[in-house]
Order: sequence, then structure tokens, then C-alpha cells
Amino acid sequence: MRKKVYWIEGDGIGPEIWRAARPVIDAALARESADMTLQWEELLAGEKALAETGSPLPEATLAALRTADIAMKGPLGTPVGTGIRSLNVALRQGLDLYACIRPVRHFAGLETPVKHPERVDMVIFRENTEDVYAGVEFAAGTPEARRLIDFLREELGVRKVGETAAVGIKPMTEAGSKRLVRRALRFALDNGLASLTLVHKGNIMKFTEGAFRQWGYDVAAQEFGDLICTEKEPVPGRLVIKDRIADAMFQEALLRPEQYQVLATPNLNGDYISDALAAQVGGLGLAPGVNMSDSLAFYEATHGTAPAIAGQDRANPGSVILCGALMLENLGHPAAAQRIRAAVGKAIAGRAVTEDLAAQVSGARVVGCREFGEIIGENL
Ligand code: NAI
Repeated sequence: MRKKVYWIEGDGIGPEIWRAARPVIDAALARESADMTLQWEELLAGEKALAETGSPLPEATLAALRTADIAMKGPLGTPVGTGIRSLNVALRQGLDLYACIRPVRHFAGLETPVKHPERVDMVIFRENTEDVYAGVEFAAGTPEARRLIDFLREELGVRKVGETAAVGIKPMTEAGSKRLVRRALRFALDNGLASLTLVHKGNIMKFTEGAFRQWGYDVAAQEFGDLICTEKEPVPGRLVIKDRIADAMFQEALLRPEQYQVLATPNLNGDYISDALAAQVGGLGLAPGVNMSDSLAFYEATHGTAPAIAGQDRANPGSVILCGALMLENLGHPAAAQRIRAAVGKAIAGRAVTEDLAAQVSGARVVGCREFGEIIGENL
């Protein structure tokens, strides 16, 4: 079977990390499966698309992705002067990629800011389309901001918003929150994990983040009632649903990370905590992620285009390689995924790493992007 995988090369370091990563992903699958190969089909986006088609996000790319079930992308910058605020946000919203999923765990040999990074083994499910990322905000002093402030004052009696304020809107819906938590619940149950934590700031933002917390408990009780329990009334063998206020969760992640397996979060909290946790395990340059709709799993390197080192064979291709592991796992090849992770682990233990990782590996020998990919390939 040939499985079609759409891919977007990405800007900046995109081309070189792809050249290093793709052979590793193909080889890992070939080792474990005689009957599936990947049929990579390129789609254009970003600078390359702008140069070839005049648009940074051609309709043909969106059309192909609307029918796809699997795709992968390198980092995309935001082409200057095209009127698009962020290609990544445009893709997430245009394809309704409502769940951003990031697993975080430590690779032995990576020095980190904490004493016991190996205690972190979490998967973050971040809501990806709502919250302050909806992009509804108005600059201070504009007629739009002024009208909104006048409306708040005159129609709703809100006096606390100063006349000169910049204003933004934070929409969060029951449907949007529940579908994210539902997906996180299924993942936790399918993988036999101990707990799922709703991370919110509901003590302050009662009707948005507080509602997220409540909708999370509701969907758990309504749809998974006999499989779950709460922290107050634990039932052996069942998934424990708990919640933490976001600031407390950052403390917990440092002090008692082993008590957390799956986090379900609104958009902004998830953005912060996934980078904080990745840094905690020394893995910002290695962090894989996937954005999911109900039909598409869209894997992406979580770092940006790293323009300062682009085209110099200095980038770390690890994030795309580990995206490949996530993808192969979801395609039903967990042994190939495990082979990739073990090969990355062995490369780190062997201390021949890209320059970004070298600072975290004592006695490291710095290798280029291409060579790091080759070493991981050999370790498969
Ligand atoms: P960045 O992630 O590109 O760079 C931050 C720092 O990390 C830099 O020092 C960079 O050299 C280093 N770095 C990042 N990835 C690396 C890798 N694979 N290997 C070695 N070093 C690496 O973030 P920045 O500078 O804020 O953004 C640059 C551009 O990327 C912007 O246009 C931004 O919009 C875009 N971006 C795109 C993302 C995506 O497509 N998912 C995510 C984040 C930023």
C-alpha cells in the first residue's frame, strides 16, 4: 500500500531539515513494514508559493488539504506585505485544525534546567481555533476600538474599559471546548493513562476559562461516565479527571510532573505550557506536534524558520524527524515510531549533535543538519 502524505517544505531552514528528515522517516517505515510505503506529494505555501504562484497560500494547497487525512509541514514565515497575519493561523482556521497535540518527554543525555526531566511524560491537547487567537482585536485609538468601547459603556454599562484602550475579544464556545476535551479523553483512555487535567484560569475569567473547565467535566461525565472518576472520588482502574488553575499548573509541572499525563487547555494556556514543558526537558528544538481536525492530521515542526541560520547546514532536523514518528504511530506503525525515537536517543547519547543541542550535551561534537540526519538514519 502506498500512503499519500502531503508535505509543505516551509521557509528558512525548511528545505534542509526536510532533506535530512524524510529519508529517516521512509527508512524507519521500511524496516518495520513490508506492505506500506509513503507517497510524498508536495504542496506549496510560504515564500516558495509566493514566488511560483503569486500567493503565499494558494487555493490549490487548501483544496488538497481539505480532502487529505495526513500532511506534514516545515516552518512558515509570514511573507511581508501580503496582508496575511500568519500563515499558520490561516491554515489552522481554514482547515478547522482545532486540536494542537504535543507530546513532551525527555531524551537521556540532554542536560536540562531541572534535576529530574525524566519525570515529565505528558501530552498536551491545546484548543487551536478560539480564545484570544481568534484575531478579534482593535488597536488603541482606532474608530473600531472607540465604537466597541462606546457600546460597552452605553449598552452594557461597562465603565472599566478606558476610552483609549486597545481591546480584544476572547471567544470560547461549549462545542469548541468539548470537542478538544473529548479528543484528549479518547487519547488518555486508548492509551491507558492515569489522569487528564483541565488547565484553566477560571478563577479570574469565569465565563470563558471557567466555562472551559465546566464543559470539560461535563463532556467527561456525559460521554465517558463509567470510564472516568474525579480526584475527590477516585475509582481504581478509571481515568482521573482533575483541573488546575493555569499558574498553579506551571508550579506543578516543575514540582510534581509525574502526577500529570494529559493536559487539556484553552489556546493561550496551551501555547505557554507546551513551550515551558519542552524547555524543561531540554527539547525545544526537538519538539514535534500535530494539528488535527476531524479529518486531517497535520504534523508540524514546532519551531520557526530560524532565518539567521537558514541555508548553512546548521539547523536541527529533529523536530520534523520526531513528527514522522508521531505520524507513523497514527498510521498504525508504533514499532517504526519507536525505532525513530530510539535512533534520536542514540544520536544524543553518542554526543554528535547539531549546535543548538550541543549546549545541552556535555562533551558534544557539533555536526551539521545533514550529518545529524545521517547519524539518526544509521541508528535506525
Ligand atoms: P524560531 O523558532 O525560528 O527561532 C528561535 C531560535 O531558535 C533562533 O535562535 C533559531 O536559530 C533557533 N532555532 C529554531 N529552530 C531551530 C532548529 N531546527 N535548529 C536549530 N536552531 C533552531 O523563532 P522566531 O525567530 O521567533 O521566528 C522566525 C520566523 O518563524 C517568524 O517568521 C515566525 O513567524 C515563524 N514561525 C513559524 C512557526 C511555524 O511555522 N510553526 C512557529 C514559530 C515561528
